[in-house]
Amino acid sequence: MMLSKKDIIDILKSPDNAVFKEADLIRKQFVGDGVHLRGLIEFSNICKRGCLYCGLQSSNKSVKRYRLSKSEILDIAKKGVDNGFKTIVLQSGEDDFFDTKLMCEIISAIKELGVALTLSLGEKTLEEYKAYKDAGADRYLLRIETTDENLYKQMHPYADFQNRKKCLFNLKNLGFETGTGCLAGLPNQTVESLADDILFFKEVDADMIGIGPFIPHPQTPLKDAACGDLNLAIKVMALTRIVLKDINIPATTAMETLAPDGRLLALQSGANVVMPNLTDDYHRSLYEIYPNKAVTTRLDLEKKLKSIGRYIELKTFGFRI
Ligand code: 5AD
Repeated sequence: MMLSKKDIIDILKSPDNAVFKEADLIRKQFVGDGVHLRGLIEFSNICKRGCLYCGLQSSNKSVKRYRLSKSEILDIAKKGVDNGFKTIVLQSGEDDFFDTKLMCEIISAIKELGVALTLSLGEKTLEEYKAYKDAGADRYLLRIETTDENLYKQMHPYADFQNRKKCLFNLKNLGFETGTGCLAGLPNQTVESLADDILFFKEVDADMIGIGPFIPHPQTPLKDAACGDLNLAIKVMALTRIVLKDINIPATTAMETLAPDGRLLALQSGANVVMPNLTDDYHRSLYEIYPNKAVTTRLDLEKKLKSIGRYIELKTFGFRI
């Protein structure tokens, strides 16, 4: 059964969480019980953008900024690969120091390790995306954040919503496995717009969807805004699983940050991916998109997965893996 926008809105408004279980069954049927790991490297917290909710926005002068060197990035990637990771995710703020040439060198070097590579570097030109693809990158993550154009404008006063959308279609057309997603619980966000977000994920034919509750950061203009509701974020995620069926959905760090077992709840409500952070503790603490970012160790994750009848799947490539 295909859910209509009205169905989705009704479910989002209802206190009933029956869709969590339904999403869990669909996850099992379409992508199985294996949980895929992606090793995340946060290689630069320097960002030229001004996203109101984000602790790394350029106007936040109290963050100590860093960028890792190419060899530091490669060392972390190698360590990840030695520890069994089959996918590396390179994420950063929009930092122009990493120009196309440098990025492509890093991409080729990581690809030589024989792993899948995901990039999450923000909005770039079609030519830049094409160069990354030609250098060997497999996947790209770029959350739309919200499909409500008005809200988008409020949250990103200097950004262009149409361009962000265009980026996603460019990525898809270039053959990237494309990930997107949204924040749940932004100030002035409506459940109607969250329903539109889910339908948009279907429209762009996303391969991966990451959803996180909004968590106010004390050094941003949204410091006094209400924190997003974990239950709502999980419900948006569950509905995304029900609508898109066979995609990859991470149990996000923001979910774990709001509740000690947020990640497990997500994995039992449609999620099938975890993205452990490979960045060293010092730099990880400086990559403060929101405060108190949760940390997972592989061992702890393994134990917790076992308790819910799931397991870590370390397989590379294949269909949408
Ligand atoms: N709370 C939760 N998630 C956030 N992000 C940025 N700032 C916050 C915040 N305050 C998310 C955005 C971005 C991803 C890397 O982190 O959705 O795409």
